[in-house]
Amino acid sequence: MRRIRVIGIGPGDPDQVTLEAVAAMHAVAYFVVADKGPDDPLLAARQALLTRHVGSGAQVVAVRDPERDRADPADYRGAVIDWHEARAEAYEQAILERPGDVGFLVWGDPAFYDSTIRIVERILARGNVEAEWDVIPGISSLQLLAARHRIVLHEIGQPITVTTARRLRAAVAAGADNILVMLSARIELDGLADWHIWWGANLGTSSERLVEGRVADVAAQLDEARAAAKAEAGWAMDAYLLRHEG
Ligand SMILES: C[S@@+](CC[C@H](N)C(=O)[O-])C[C@H]1O[C@@H](n2cnc3c(N)ncnc32)[C@H](O)[C@@H]1O
Repeated sequence: MRRIRVIGIGPGDPDQVTLEAVAAMHAVAYFVVADKGPDDPLLAARQALLTRHVGSGAQVVAVRDPERDRADPADYRGAVIDWHEARAEAYEQAILERPGDVGFLVWGDPAFYDSTIRIVERILARGNVEAEWDVIPGISSLQLLAARHRIVLHEIGQPITVTTARRLRAAVAAGADNILVMLSARIELDGLADWHIWWGANLGTSSERLVEGRVADVAAQLDEARAAAKAEAGWAMDAYLLRHEG
């Protein structure tokens, strides 16, 4: 039976791809990737990674990414679900047109803020593609953030909250005091001046930037570092740990 392999590829550095992921990359017939247009910042990074680990002959099927409806910000979840269905349909088509095992390359680890697993479930639920499937873990940007700052992400025996920048305020209001934040369009830390931050942008790439300190002390440095990473790479992705040390 055909296999679909969801392969975590780490947060950018080809050295941070596991041996298991490399074996899976070699085992598939082709890779289905979302084509987000020529400005997709991660396109070149993915291509470099494939060239390094599979060679220049890797078969890549680029599928035009359906538009996401952003008209109603109040219905974020509904818009994302519709978008997943549209992607499932487009990927299904690409798979039905080609025989062989299929690889999906997932930035970081597939378990964190990535829709590939849900989309593969949708493809299979549609009933037209018959396949076994598995997930190969990758190093997440969160792990790399911790490694670069040489920290444990939580205090002894204490919990950690992982959330998005959109939901940071809700996490603080709910009493979380050790929060990992992803998916931020900009750094907004008003009201968190006395928290400690461990921040990283473009981790694992040549434009990597790190900042650490009390939010009030490093706020300007954070903005500068984010702008510098973006100027250097053409894109900036950041993740950070915020801890209230009361
Ligand atoms: C769509 S999520 C994917 C996360 C990914 N699955 C992971 O495990 O890292 C994208 C977010 O991950 C974080 N991220 C991914 N790669 C990163 C990198 N190289 N440096 C810093 N943050 C990164 C950022 O918060 C970014 O907005």
